Amino acid sequence: MGRKLLLQQATVPGIEKLEVYRQHGGYASVEKALKTMTQNDVVEEVKKSGLRGRGGAGFPTGMKWSFLAKPEGVARYLVCNADESEPGTFKDRYLMEKTPHSLIEGMITSSFALGARTSYIYIRGEYFYVSRILEKAIEEAYAAGYLGENILGSGFSHDCYVQVGAGAYICGEETALLESLEGKRGNPRIKPPFPAIAGLYGCPTVVNNVETIAAICPIINMGGEEYAKIGIGRSTGTKLISASGHINKPGVYEIELGLPVEEFIYSEEYCGGIINGNQLKAVVPGGSSVPILPAHLILKTDKGEPRLMSYESLSEGGFATGSMLGSGGFIVYDETTNIVKNLYTFVRFYHHESCGQCSPCREGTGWMEKILHRIVEGHGKPSDIDLLWDVQRKIEGNTICPLGDAAAWPVAAAIRHFRSEFEEYINHPERINEVKHYYSVNQLQGA
Ligand SMILES: Cc1cc2nc3c(=O)[nH]c(=O)nc-3n(C[C@H](O)[C@H](O)[C@H](O)COP(=O)(O)O)c2cc1C
Repeated sequence: MGRKLLLQQATVPGIEKLEVYRQHGGYASVEKALKTMTQNDVVEEVKKSGLRGRGGAGFPTGMKWSFLAKPEGVARYLVCNADESEPGTFKDRYLMEKTPHSLIEGMITSSFALGARTSYIYIRGEYFYVSRILEKAIEEAYAAGYLGENILGSGFSHDCYVQVGAGAYICGEETALLESLEGKRGNPRIKPPFPAIAGLYGCPTVVNNVETIAAICPIINMGGEEYAKIGIGRSTGTKLISASGHINKPGVYEIELGLPVEEFIYSEEYCGGIINGNQLKAVVPGGSSVPILPAHLILKTDKGEPRLMSYESLSEGGFATGSMLGSGGFIVYDETTNIVKNLYTFVRFYHHESCGQCSPCREGTGWMEKILHRIVEGHGKPSDIDLLWDVQRKIEGNTICPLGDAAAWPVAAAIRHFRSEFEEYINHPERINEVKHYYSVNQLQGA
């Protein structure tokens, strides 16, 4: 059994209530940090832990915290990114729904470390019911003296608010999120300045993912060094994986980083193998934005070594033969999958969600959708594959925020690894519906 630090109590009856959560060791990190540590001690423990941001980019959390500007007399903010709109990713929802207090506890301990008097949890609009669960938890935390003035007599005061978004994927990008939180249209900002210097209301701000913030509690409880012993290399600790697609046991799993991909897919402890005993065809390992890998490359690297669930191993080989851990949205496809149709649903999503600020993304995602639409409708031309390749190349790296890259990478990877499938559907349109399966974005977000 892999070690669990975040979900070990997720199935305890009543764990969403503060009293039950506390009986199971809840709020220990707040007690420890506020009563026995300085702000700097907490930052140092997080640095020692090697924790990397769980929102997708994997930036070291302790380093991000140490970049936070601290001008005299200026407010600082912690903002929790609970937007979770990446197709294939639903781990934050599970964590917030099952153990809301672990996020609130992490918000308090992290805010103490950053010297933030106020924090916000920005949650996607579709998770309205989860926002109610969080609000209830916050109410209980105020009543128990973990939030508000002079928490536990430490002199540290803190207020935490929940803000519900309106269901836009772009508002998961941290600067679009800040715009939205300020009441404006969620357009990404040009960087620099980064949020650590000028974030919410122009003040120094740290934006962290839900899972990142929840992981602060075990780090403070066990110490950064102990936490860093879990995992492999620079991929320390545990990671929540949202597993969906053609597997026997879809769901949210907490794994120790470094677990072999093959074990994750086939063992009974995790995905339980491919449905109907089918063959594995491909995997998108880190949410819809990261490159798809065919079966032979997801199970083994190009060097023939077992592929591991870690930041380094999943990206081994670059995009030529590798992918990314991303947000941990692990989408599994069996032999019945129509890669081209599946890609079309992804591209429609990115076109719909592009904010429209940058022309390569605004226009390019639309062009990719049109080209793929004509291929799946049986009107593709042989030149369409190169045209599609050309369009994605012109989007990647040419936009203010990485939504453009997120739209380009799946297209490039599908062509790179499954070009013959595009050719087959263009040359033999009658075969397009012979292979039927693909996933809609709604299926992947609600799995
Ligand atoms: C289009 C887009 C959508 C994103 N959506 C999310 C999201 O839903 N949740 C999240 O934590 N990070 C998301 N990110 C990444 C954030 O910009 C940011 O890197 C992250 O919240 C930082 O937190 P971390 O360091 O704890 O990972 C998104 C980025 C982009 C470009």
